[in-house]
Amino acid sequence: MLKALRKVELAIIGGSGLERLLEGVERTRVGTPYGLSNPILIGDVNGRAVAFLPRHGLEHTIPPHKVNYRANLYALRSLGVERAIATNAVGAINVDFEPGDLVIPHDFIDFTKWRYQTFYEGALVTHVDLSQPYCPEVRSILIRSAEEVRGRVWDKAVLVCTEGPRFETPAEIEAFRRLGADIVGMTGVPEAVLARELEMCYATLCYVSNMAAGLQSRLTVDEVKEVAERVSPIVERVLKNVLRSLPVERNCPCPHALRGARY
Ligand code: HPA
Repeated sequence: MLKALRKVELAIIGGSGLERLLEGVERTRVGTPYGLSNPILIGDVNGRAVAFLPRHGLEHTIPPHKVNYRANLYALRSLGVERAIATNAVGAINVDFEPGDLVIPHDFIDFTKWRYQTFYEGALVTHVDLSQPYCPEVRSILIRSAEEVRGRVWDKAVLVCTEGPRFETPAEIEAFRRLGADIVGMTGVPEAVLARELEMCYATLCYVSNMAAGLQSRLTVDEVKEVAERVSPIVERVLKNVLRSLPVERNCPCPHALRGARY
């Protein structure tokens, strides 16, 4: 059987380079009712089939506000994926955080503006519960795995997601701080929401690439890329640990996310 047709239980959604984790890689794209997904690489990690979906494309050509989040999540689900682990570069709003730090957020605030947020546009009218926005089981394994690699891990944080592609103004960052946000990124939402709508587990491993606007003199993509490169061996080690310790069966509420969610 073609490897691409094997059931793939687990996906990593993140920056390019993480495909280094996979052995025997095959590449595919999936047509969905929402359009064509990004390229998806499927390979083996410790004998388990794992999909890697580079959110910005293989050559980093898709900006955060143009990512087809619905096609990507739907494609992963149609490959059999039950759990997705994301990685995100973020700016730090909380001044206790530093560039290079690992952060596993427990909640988010959505400040995106133009993105499709749902698969459920009509009947059955569906309101998914986000009282626990991230899968508690994947989150706790991510935290443990990160702590094995690095002493300094922030195991609770509120992520604010902005529309981008511009960085924020200092006044916006100060407003987000007053609202309780610790970190800011452009890609966490609606990914987490769409995963929940498909009853997939989802949690994210963030790394601080810069202090947010107003907390350092200037923000550049060069800096974000430089920190991403520096942190990527650490992120890879964390993800390897996660893949080793994730139990086969899911022990969390995510598989039943649609129970009680529909009219
Ligand atoms: N703001 C938004 N997204 C980001 C940032 C930031 O400061 N750094 C990395 N991604």
